Amino acid sequence: MVNSLPLLEGDKQMSENTPMISTQNLTMRFEVKAGLFSPRKHITAVDNVNIAIYEGENVALVGESGCGKSTLGRLTLGLLKPTEGSVFYYGKNIWQMSKEEFRDFRKSAQIIHQNPYNAINPMRKIADTLLPPILKYKIAKNRDEAWEKAKELLCMVGLSPPEDFLNRYPARMSGGQMQRILIARALSVNPKYILADEAVSMLDASLRIGVVDLLLDLQKKFKVSYLFVTHDFGIARYFVAKGGGRVMVMYLGSIVEIGPGEEVIQNPIHPYTRTLISAIPIPDPVETRKRGIPPLRSLDIPSLTELPPGCKFSDRCPYASEVCMKKHPELKEVNGRLVACHKAEEFL
Ligand SMILES: Nc1ncnc2c1ncn2[C@@H]1O[C@H](COP(=O)(O)OP(=O)(O)OP(=O)(O)O)[C@@H](O)[C@H]1O
Ligand SMILES: [Mg+2]
Repeated sequence: MVNSLPLLEGDKQMSENTPMISTQNLTMRFEVKAGLFSPRKHITAVDNVNIAIYEGENVALVGESGCGKSTLGRLTLGLLKPTEGSVFYYGKNIWQMSKEEFRDFRKSAQIIHQNPYNAINPMRKIADTLLPPILKYKIAKNRDEAWEKAKELLCMVGLSPPEDFLNRYPARMSGGQMQRILIARALSVNPKYILADEAVSMLDASLRIGVVDLLLDLQKKFKVSYLFVTHDFGIARYFVAKGGGRVMVMYLGSIVEIGPGEEVIQNPIHPYTRTLISAIPIPDPVETRKRGIPPLRSLDIPSLTELPPGCKFSDRCPYASEVCMKKHPELKEVNGRLVACHKAEEFL
């Protein structure tokens, strides 16, 4: 087992299989410069992260903007090389793979981007977006077969009649239709793992639920695992309520809570998770009071270049005490999940 985290009950069953994707002490630092003459500084966008994602599993990764979700997601796909630590695909370090193995891995691990207008060439017909990966990875023998496969995929994502869409240019399509094209393209190469990075954030609220439903329906057909990245706990809640799976909560580069989705949402333990969840609008004022957490000590997210010593949440956390200011809390098992908080037991 490459993951050094303690195993939870739910994980024990799954651990009989090697995780599909796992990370070990995964760290990504970037150099940042505020101005031409300012000194160079480093930020740690992903800070010593150990996670595992199993075959066919749903994982929602939630956290505020800039906390490192996309960087972590891109590291798990091999789109970025970590500064330190490792990413494993079925136990094999992806950066020690042969060229062929890495190519197979890249085919099996796909991404659905946030903004389809950036991800799809506006000058090309949809056929020219969908066919190349099908041909490149030899999913189809020739262009005619690839055309048929693309038609099948378009029907699956609800774009019909498919010929009409294959011959269209992006300008003649809505945001929701374009997002469906991205989903079709990701699925076209028969992946096993899909990073959906804010895949519904750009869509109108009325369309978001429909696209999440589509992703979950397709999961049954294609048996993929999703890392569903979002800054919106409301949509993460919908994703795990409908599809099942786990929630991972990220704060300034660190994972602060991991657990079964419904349980984390109904009964969050980490003060940061509780803050995020109490921000989800709900119609019932009694329920809102029950969830309440004292006001944060600061509304400002600290800069990644000037993190507080000890727990990164300590300068905002209403419960922080001396130990929190001094000592970094590691993830530890608390009540069937993993929580990085010195005071976690007090919140049960
Ligand atoms: N290539 C890069 N060079 C320098 N800094 C980067 C780079 N990519 C990301 N960062 C920084 O790393 C931090 C984490 O960024 P990341 O995009 O992973 O966050 P995020 O949680 O996905 O945010 P959002 O919700 O806005 O998408 C940010 O401070 C960002 O500015
Ligand atoms: Mg992002």
